[in-house]
Amino acid sequence: MGFDATLHANILPTAGVSVNLVDAAAIKEVTTARARFPKPVRIYKIVSFFGENIIASEGDEWKRYRKIAAPAFNDKNNKLIWDETIRIMGDLFENVWGAQDSVVVDHAVNITLPIALFVLGAAAFGRRISWKDDEGIPPNHEMTFKGAIHEVSTNAFVKLFVPEWAMGMTAFTRKVRLAFEELDRYMLEMIWNRRNAEKKEEKDDLLANLLDASSDDPSFTDRELTGNIFIFLVAGHETTAHTLCFAFALLALYPDQQDILFQHIKSVVPDGRLPTYEEMPLLTQSMAVFYETLRMYPPVNDIPKYSAEDTSLTISNAAGEKRILPIPRDTYVNINVVGLHYNPRYWKDPDEFQPARFLEPDWPRDAFIPFSAGPRACIGRKFFETEGIAILTMLISRYKIEIKEEPQFARETFKERKARVLASKPGLTMTPLRVPLVFKRR
Ligand code: HEM
Repeated sequence: MGFDATLHANILPTAGVSVNLVDAAAIKEVTTARARFPKPVRIYKIVSFFGENIIASEGDEWKRYRKIAAPAFNDKNNKLIWDETIRIMGDLFENVWGAQDSVVVDHAVNITLPIALFVLGAAAFGRRISWKDDEGIPPNHEMTFKGAIHEVSTNAFVKLFVPEWAMGMTAFTRKVRLAFEELDRYMLEMIWNRRNAEKKEEKDDLLANLLDASSDDPSFTDRELTGNIFIFLVAGHETTAHTLCFAFALLALYPDQQDILFQHIKSVVPDGRLPTYEEMPLLTQSMAVFYETLRMYPPVNDIPKYSAEDTSLTISNAAGEKRILPIPRDTYVNINVVGLHYNPRYWKDPDEFQPARFLEPDWPRDAFIPFSAGPRACIGRKFFETEGIAILTMLISRYKIEIKEEPQFARETFKERKARVLASKPGLTMTPLRVPLVFKRR
């Protein structure tokens, strides 16, 4: 009894039998054996509007993209992410929040979505976007870059659900269509400009790095370049913004944990100056806060795979008994991230927010898969970690985060408040419903 895998007969998304896994060893086997358990790519085809890309591919096509994309996420890019994030947070404090001692934000994603977008703008596309000013619409465009990238990342779902022929029917869908066309135009222009620049600039953004890496492969088309850059926007925007939002909410709900984090940041950066990229590895408490947030609120709840052949998986229960589970070819294999992250076999008191568990040397690494695992694991993990740590360090050293007090919730218990503030709904990624916060200057 108590085996960490369940079988289901299901109708959709794939007919036939499916298996739901919350067993760390079986999940490790599935994520490692890429050829035996590939991705059901047809589920992902929907994210190919700008061209074929690394997420929506398998086999040799995926290998080719990964080979070009992997070196783009290098140390120089991480340093750029760090520096740009510090600049974007400084810009927020100085030019948006200004002299206010207390800043009320009705839903934390109202700041985390733009932060994540601006970091991607600078570190992926090589274009700085600021909070206040707008650059003005260039002559051959109908939207600013900021407007286009914002519209596309906010309303990508419209392209998923509205067929092409119907996109011209309302002012809203026309605007979304225009934004997609504009972003495409901006991307192609950036590629053209960089290829044809008289003086080559030393640039470390992902677009520049992809251009460099792909110059050795003449078969790599501009469509594939834009497809892959676009996919970084899709994969990196909401995931990051929602994780930041949940982390802020948890820190506001658990002031003791926030204080531990504040004291730790102060011990690493004692003099109030800007933190440097070299200090990032020392900010271990910040990383622990993110890992605990990602354990409890992973933005990607399920990772789909299927069996390419008749095979089997070894599963076990809490007593350590093992069993062989036959997996016929074409079985849909669901990696249940939430189930694994709350599995009491691996996590003591899984409902408790305890960042310190990630400071133990032997925390159960195989039972933590917010970024998936194996060869198809998230390529942007370090990107997120760099950005996230820079954001937390800047924010927590200057502001204290609290839950906004509202009269209609004055009588709620802590449990009710926690459930309200952390409530979420499914979307492209798990989406926080409403996280009302106050940032109080320290
Ligand atoms: C908290 C932040 C993030 C989380 C939780 C996250 C999570 C994930 C997960 C679970 C996968 C595997 C998806 C699957 O198998 O269907 C994935 C893949 C991927 N992620 Fe992330 N991600 C994050 C941030 C980012 C960022 C910032 C970028 C890029 C700038 C990015 C780019 C990608 C790409 C390109 C893949 C596909 C890799 C491949 O198939 O080879 N991610 N991510």
